[in-house]
Amino acid sequence: MNHPAGPIGVFDSGYGGLTIFQELLKQLPEYDYIYLGDNARNPYGIRSFDVVYHYTLECVRHLFNQGCNLVILACNTASAKALRTIQQRDLPVLNGSRRVLGVIRPTTEIIGSYSKSGHVGIFATEGTVNSESYPIEIRRFFPEVTIYQEACPMWVPLVENNEHNTAGAEYFIRQHVDRLLQRSASIDTILLACTHYPLLAHQISKFLPPHIRLIPQGEIVASSLIRYLTKHPEIARRCTQRGTRKYFTTESTENFDTKAQVFLRNCPVQAEHLQL
Ligand code: DGL
Repeated sequence: MNHPAGPIGVFDSGYGGLTIFQELLKQLPEYDYIYLGDNARNPYGIRSFDVVYHYTLECVRHLFNQGCNLVILACNTASAKALRTIQQRDLPVLNGSRRVLGVIRPTTEIIGSYSKSGHVGIFATEGTVNSESYPIEIRRFFPEVTIYQEACPMWVPLVENNEHNTAGAEYFIRQHVDRLLQRSASIDTILLACTHYPLLAHQISKFLPPHIRLIPQGEIVASSLIRYLTKHPEIARRCTQRGTRKYFTTESTENFDTKAQVFLRNCPVQAEHLQL
């Protein structure tokens, strides 16, 4: 059954997805969007496959109930641990004409082309690193590229708790930067494979030699969505274009509104609380 056209849903375990969302608003401002942050159950990165899958599915269902026909998992951990099961097992039962897309595929299609040395570092959550999704997918597109992964379990809590610009944060940032760089002197590109991490980019850069490029995913994902909607006009037609934005959080709306403003400078944010 085809549902009426609706907004594009954007989901993350918390605030991180806003780094993707702000690029979507830049590159595709005409669409209607609903952003959902599961801040109350964040972080996902340290949770088991099953828990991440169930949490993500619950949030996707909520976005479907809000009328979204297309949902972007703006979360690497959910993309690594839940996307395939949702696409293959749940969507055909829930509604085969709705779509859920992740952030890993668009990133792995292009990341190898940023590196001259063919040595690419990846900062991600434990969940994403342990899933091996990045090395497996990148190998398919860039078999000659060597990948070095570093899990950074403290980084998401630093962002969610607004501690990412503190001296204390520097300790944990430097620790993982040093560990990654010790693995290969040839790394010339580092991917921020967690949507929270662009908020740490400035701090991370302080500990990187100047020739190393730090790549966030926002622009990559937004450009890829443009190509997807062009290639799939039947999906694009099912996404409404009135330029509206709506926000849901499973935590306090006050905190969300203040924090979201950091990402979305000129857009007023008034989130609704969602009890899951
Ligand atoms: N922002 C999410 C990601 O891209 C995960 C953060 C978390 O909840 O651990 O992986």
